Amino acid sequence: MADWSSKTHLICLLLLCSPPVAAQYLGAQSCRPCHAEQFDSHANTGHAHALSPQAPAEALSAAPKADWAFGSGTHAVTWVSRLNDSHYLEHGQSWFRSSKSLDTTPGHNNPKGLKYRIFEPEARILRCFSCHSTGLPRVDATNHIQPAEAGVNCEVCHGPGAAHVQSGGAKYRIDNPSRYRATAINDLCGACHRQPDALGAAPRWEDPWNARHQPLYLAESRCFQESNEKLSCLTCHDPHTKLTRDSKQYEVVCQNCHKTVRHKTGIAKASCVSCHMPTVRPSTQLGFANHWIGVYIPGTTLRPRR
Ligand code: HEC
Ligand code: HEC
Ligand code: HEC
Ligand code: HEC
Ligand code: HEC
Ligand code: HEC
Ligand code: HEC
Repeated sequence: MADWSSKTHLICLLLLCSPPVAAQYLGAQSCRPCHAEQFDSHANTGHAHALSPQAPAEALSAAPKADWAFGSGTHAVTWVSRLNDSHYLEHGQSWFRSSKSLDTTPGHNNPKGLKYRIFEPEARILRCFSCHSTGLPRVDATNHIQPAEAGVNCEVCHGPGAAHVQSGGAKYRIDNPSRYRATAINDLCGACHRQPDALGAAPRWEDPWNARHQPLYLAESRCFQESNEKLSCLTCHDPHTKLTRDSKQYEVVCQNCHKTVRHKTGIAKASCVSCHMPTVRPSTQLGFANHWIGVYIPGTTLRPRR
């Protein structure tokens, strides 16, 4: 069963599931004339720079000869190259912002890198491109993987834009997630912000690498479960704006729901998120805010006490 569904996924990735003409992807440039505000703001996000033939400026001096740079460099950049007609290589050394230097790529144990067959049932290398680009990547006649549009752009979240653009901007001709419930937003963002093979399954909370999967963690919070679909990713993140690291902005959101918090214990002057969404460090180079909002025993970060 699992094998069949991954094959179906692979076939779809290769564009054999031809979408109807109206379901065409046009690219972010086609939205720009009418939605300049969203376009300009989105251009500064990690999403817009999630994939590029060239590494971001700060990582350039460390860049090896490679075909693709994955990651805006908010946390890291990993290089990927085509080896031959049947294989791609994920380079074993990545650039990390925290040290501004190269170190072992997460999941690797030597600097040689990992080889992937292009046409393997798990489609692992194609999936890298799927999550870091817009529309369906395809493999061309010379077996080069070609993303339809590099980066996580407008039509990832709004769906193919052709019908909306051809109608001159008609309402209801394109997806507008502002009409979604919080659980549907978790699914939209979770298409990439969680492991593809963890669908439905609870992650192993003791594994710090899983703290990157925000939708699963948020869904465990009492804040999420007991606020009747009012708390979603959009409550704290504007999808068109670069992620803010200013804890004050999140504190305002907490206080919208928790107007008067009566802590039983004496609380040090710190931000709400530093205690209730602590940073999980799966490696010395990386840290992610734990989206399971809760009460943590001091010194622990992986899961709150119930
Ligand atoms: C020719 C101008 C034009 C282009 C090009 C255009 N839009 Fe729009 N768009 C509009 C207008 C006008 C509205 C407001 C419609 C209304 O409220 O009646 C709109 C509304 C929307 C909405 C809300 C729709 C709804 O049903 O609530 C979304 C989402 C959207 N646009 C996204 C996009 C994206 C993504 C692209 C590029 C693929 C794009 N637009 C290209 C003019 C345009
Ligand atoms: C197509 C896959 C995909 C989808 C769908 C997606 N993301 Fe992302 N997201 C990514 C990738 C890849 C990155 C890493 C970008 C980078 O290189 O910095 C990212 C990064 C982010 C960041 C950090 C960005 C920054 O500016 O530093 C936030 C916040 C985020 N996503 C929120 C969301 C939310 C909220 C949604 C749903 C509305 C969503 N994402 C949907 C793939 C996706
Ligand atoms: C299931 C979707 C998915 C797949 C598959 C995937 N990524 Fe990502 N990637 C993401 C998301 C989402 C983020 C943002 C994580 C975060 O910051 O929470 C990300 C972040 C990254 C970053 C760090 C970007 C930054 O600076 O913050 C790199 C580098 C990266 N991915 C490379 C890869 C490579 C190489 C592959 C294939 C081996 C791959 N990714 C496969 C979704 C995916
Ligand atoms: C990561 C997902 C994501 C990406 C990428 C994205 N959007 Fe959006 N967009 C949303 C969400 C979610 C909303 C609803 C916002 C809300 O309710 O706060 C939205 C709302 C909108 C609206 C307003 C609709 C309204 O109700 O007024 C427009 C227009 C729009 N987006 C255009 C764009 C354009 C143009 C791009 C690319 C430059 C883009 N979006 C990229 C997720 C995204
Ligand atoms: C949409 C409303 C909403 C938002 C926003 C929100 N919460 Fe909550 N939160 C709740 C509800 C509802 C509960 C459960 C009942 C209660 O304790 O009031 C809760 C429970 C909690 C608890 C107790 C958890 C437990 O496991 O017992 C903590 C701690 C908490 N919230 C902190 C925060 C922090 C910090 C933020 C901001 C990062 C935040 N909340 C944002 C609605 C929200
Ligand atoms: C209650 C507020 C809140 C909600 C809801 C929320 N986030 Fe976050 N998010 C944060 C905070 C706080 C940070 C850490 C910012 C920092 O580093 O200062 C963050 C960081 C991130 C990052 C960057 C990874 C990192 O830690 O560097 C991503 C990606 C992200 N959130 C995605 C999501 C997604 C997807 C959802 C919906 C499932 C979501 N967030 C819901 C508050 C929230
Ligand atoms: C120094 C760490 C720390 C900071 C900062 C902090 N909290 Fe707490 N919070 C705790 C601890 C520990 C508890 C559980 C014991 C208690 O109630 O004092 C708690 C409990 C809570 C509860 C659950 C109370 C209940 O009814 O059971 C909520 C809600 C909450 N905090 C929200 C917030 C908000 C909102 C902020 C920011 C304005 C904040 N906290 C700042 C550590 C902190």
